[in-house]
Amino acid sequence: MEFCCLAVTGALKETWAGDTLVVGLFAPAAGSGRALAEELVGEGFEGLLQRRRFEGKPGQTITLERPGGSPASLILVGLGDPAEFGLEALRQSSAGAARAAATAGAVELGLLFPVEGLEPTAAVAAMAEAVRLGLYADQRFKSEAEPPSLPSLVTLLGVAAGAEAGLANVAATCSGVELARRLVAAPPNSATPQFLAEEAAAIADAFGLELKVLERDDCEALGMGAYLGVAQGSDLPPKFIHLTYRPTGEVTRRVVLVGKGLTFDSGGYNLKTAGSQIEMMKYDMGGSAAVLGAARAIGEIRPAGLEVHVIVASCENMISGGAIHPGDVLTASNGKTIEINNTDAEGRLTLADALVYACGLEPDAIVDLATLTGACVIALGEEIAGLWSPSDGLADALLQAGNAGGEAFWRMPLRGSYKKGLKSHIADLKNTGPRPGGSITAALFLQDFVTKGLPWAHLDIAGTVWSDKSRGLDPAGATGFGVRTLVAWLVAGAAS
Ligand code: BES
Ligand code: MN
Ligand code: ZN
Repeated sequence: MEFCCLAVTGALKETWAGDTLVVGLFAPAAGSGRALAEELVGEGFEGLLQRRRFEGKPGQTITLERPGGSPASLILVGLGDPAEFGLEALRQSSAGAARAAATAGAVELGLLFPVEGLEPTAAVAAMAEAVRLGLYADQRFKSEAEPPSLPSLVTLLGVAAGAEAGLANVAATCSGVELARRLVAAPPNSATPQFLAEEAAAIADAFGLELKVLERDDCEALGMGAYLGVAQGSDLPPKFIHLTYRPTGEVTRRVVLVGKGLTFDSGGYNLKTAGSQIEMMKYDMGGSAAVLGAARAIGEIRPAGLEVHVIVASCENMISGGAIHPGDVLTASNGKTIEINNTDAEGRLTLADALVYACGLEPDAIVDLATLTGACVIALGEEIAGLWSPSDGLADALLQAGNAGGEAFWRMPLRGSYKKGLKSHIADLKNTGPRPGGSITAALFLQDFVTKGLPWAHLDIAGTVWSDKSRGLDPAGATGFGVRTLVAWLVAGAAS
């Protein structure tokens, strides 16, 4: 899928010759695209709107096949109230329109939205990302795949001259999101720790990143007892993945991204039940998918001045004669001892050693992403991820990047007094607090493994990593959540 931009100064017919035109219209049928749509259709435009009952409500999409003998088919998309129109509405309607266009068999697609009030490069980026991500389909695990019919050329029409600069990072970012979606959707008998290590190697090879994979012995030598405790119940060997992007030239900022990489979470001896969605726990590596997707994007974008480390302590949480018992005490690589009062709170154990390792790299900031708690899903639902950070600067930068990229975060409290919920009589701390505030105690647990004063943020993506229904830019299934925010944050940080 190619993208290009066209300002359209004169008549549309003379400047654009595609087969399918999407026009976004405010309710009832107003906006800058209307005149061009009328030009294409000719007389009878008004009658057509009435016959098809087009009212311009948000989400309303009607397809008109070559209306009035026009050379192109026309898809009208309702945008609702102009006062509520912004980048997010533009994204949602672009994705919906792209799907309607693909269904109609569009090959050369034009998109015409009333973007005059929006920052031109941001508008162009939002449209292009929405089209590409909205059309994503995954048929790897079907025995008879239907070849997808996708447009080959997408022209963003009626944008300001120079807006195409907004396309600069779109392809790389979308490839990162798509990689994350593929990794998350892959079943647990295919996406193993070894598979994640191979995917990291493929990114390293393709974009010239450095890769180190620590085996069980290496992790033992580093004293990673918390991570290895989780891994010991599985027949599959753990893989501790460390991928590094180094810019050419001087490094002014070093960042570490840490992703939870549980390729399956059975719960261990605190076994999950059918009602706890055990069959979905293949997506418990959604954090690792996001950071690997971001690594792929950064490898392609190659920002100057910025060094990025990606860490994934990958393993499975399984049951066997060798698995950890509830009640075991594990020692993490910073020497802290942890009483395991629930084997299902395993993600924080793997992250503990990953965060200690990350701090050892002496970065300017650490961001971890994890499908950490069901409690976060209860608190924020499936469209908003939780964000915890003791650093206001880092929290604000991530919130802003999320907002710019179209992913929603809500800052949650690292309330110190809740730490008492993790008090253990036998070890330094327990791995599980009481049920109320469960996503907060999980974040407080992680904080114990981060060097004091080092800017760190924890993103709980348990709710946002998967969508049962198609929603906006996300087809049903894996969303690739987190990649767009990480890339926007990293690129902004590299520029500042
Ligand atoms: N991977 C789960 C969290 C999860 C649950 C993600 C549901 C997505 C949907 C995590 O390892 C877990 O099991 N957390 C427990 C923690 C509890 C034992 C303190 C949970 O949330 O129930
Ligand atoms: Mn668990
Ligand atoms: Zn888990």
